[in-house]
Amino acid sequence: MGKTRWFILATCLCLIAFSDGRELKAQHTNRHPLYNHTLATIIVQYASAVYLSDLTELLTWTCSRCNGLTEVLRIILKWKQGFEVIELVVDVEHCLQGFVGIAKDPDAIIIAFRGTQESSIQNWIEDLFWKQLDLNYPGMTDAMVHRGFYYAYHNTTLRPAIVNALERAKKNYGDTKIIVTGHSMGGAMASFCGLDLKVNLNAQDVQVMTFGQPRVGNAVFASYYSKLVPNTIRVTNGHDMVPHLPPYYYYFPKKTYHHFPREVWLYNIGLGSLVYRVEKICDGSGEDPSCSRSVSGNSISDHLVYYGVEMGSGEPGTCRIVMNPQASDHSIRDSRGNILLSRDPASPLKELSSKFDNEGKRVSVE
Ligand SMILES: *[C@@H]1O[C@H](CO)[C@@H](O)[C@H](O)[C@H]1NC(C)=O
Ligand SMILES: *[C@@H]1O[C@H](CO)[C@@H](O)[C@H](O)[C@H]1NC(C)=O
Repeated sequence: MGKTRWFILATCLCLIAFSDGRELKAQHTNRHPLYNHTLATIIVQYASAVYLSDLTELLTWTCSRCNGLTEVLRIILKWKQGFEVIELVVDVEHCLQGFVGIAKDPDAIIIAFRGTQESSIQNWIEDLFWKQLDLNYPGMTDAMVHRGFYYAYHNTTLRPAIVNALERAKKNYGDTKIIVTGHSMGGAMASFCGLDLKVNLNAQDVQVMTFGQPRVGNAVFASYYSKLVPNTIRVTNGHDMVPHLPPYYYYFPKKTYHHFPREVWLYNIGLGSLVYRVEKICDGSGEDPSCSRSVSGNSISDHLVYYGVEMGSGEPGTCRIVMNPQASDHSIRDSRGNILLSRDPASPLKELSSKFDNEGKRVSVE
């Protein structure tokens, strides 16, 4: 008798524990108006693709990382292409890269920034410890940011190229929603870009989604930022080191870096074969102590995979560029060697692709 009772009790406890776990997952996946899991798994692919160095493949959207969800949608819905790049910019001087393109789902202009290409990601991460808050964000009293991150977007070929591409896109598509993304240092640049679009370019519908980005400014900056670009998701993964840097010093609120919201922390719970993924939507402070800050940031491998998608270039240390000679018809090089590849959104991609195809490039456009 006693045994049976224990058995029932144990079974009940088990069921409660199990359903609790499931509820936890459901609760964290889709209850927040700002966070859309499906959208995140699409956007992460753009943040991954922008690392690739073959400019021809990126411009024709035929790269190895360009074939995920967008390719499936292309086949099912018979779209010519799930995504069309209209501007690809490589700042050779500073080893930076970004693109602007038009996506069908989500129906938006996507802007993506590549992360660092330093010879050693470890060295780059170690340097992050020492980054100073050394620049006053223009027009925002007491808002301090890191000069290096700020200038990587504002004082390179990237900003003018992006602004120009957005103007061209606007002529063809009107006021479309803009989604800005990037991983690591690219995430830092994406956040400065999103803010710039709102503050200086009067864009209405701007969404920012970054993956494993470092802190970029102080609490005052974070507060301005979150008012101006409320539609922002900052995804962090497990023990990824980079979102922990530059460090947050609890005891020096005036001197410390401070993340802006809204963090979504991806982590595993359970043991052995019962491990599953949780996506925790964090509080509005930017520094939710129960999210990634609740663990130590001690992993580089957690920095390099988001939603199962490989981030980084896989060949660190190279600012290598691969470009088909035919692509030079569409490219401009400035006096400092920086490259701009532009495409008129109204011109058919087919023509461009067959041109590249003459050089033996793989092209998947019908
Ligand atoms: C989430 O994003 C996907 C992909 O863009 C979209 O199809 C879906 O409607 C979105 N869901 C919500 C609830 O907005
Ligand atoms: C901005 O860029 C120009 C040209 O590359 C350079 O001469 C200048 O020093 C940069 N300014 C800062 C503050 O980095």
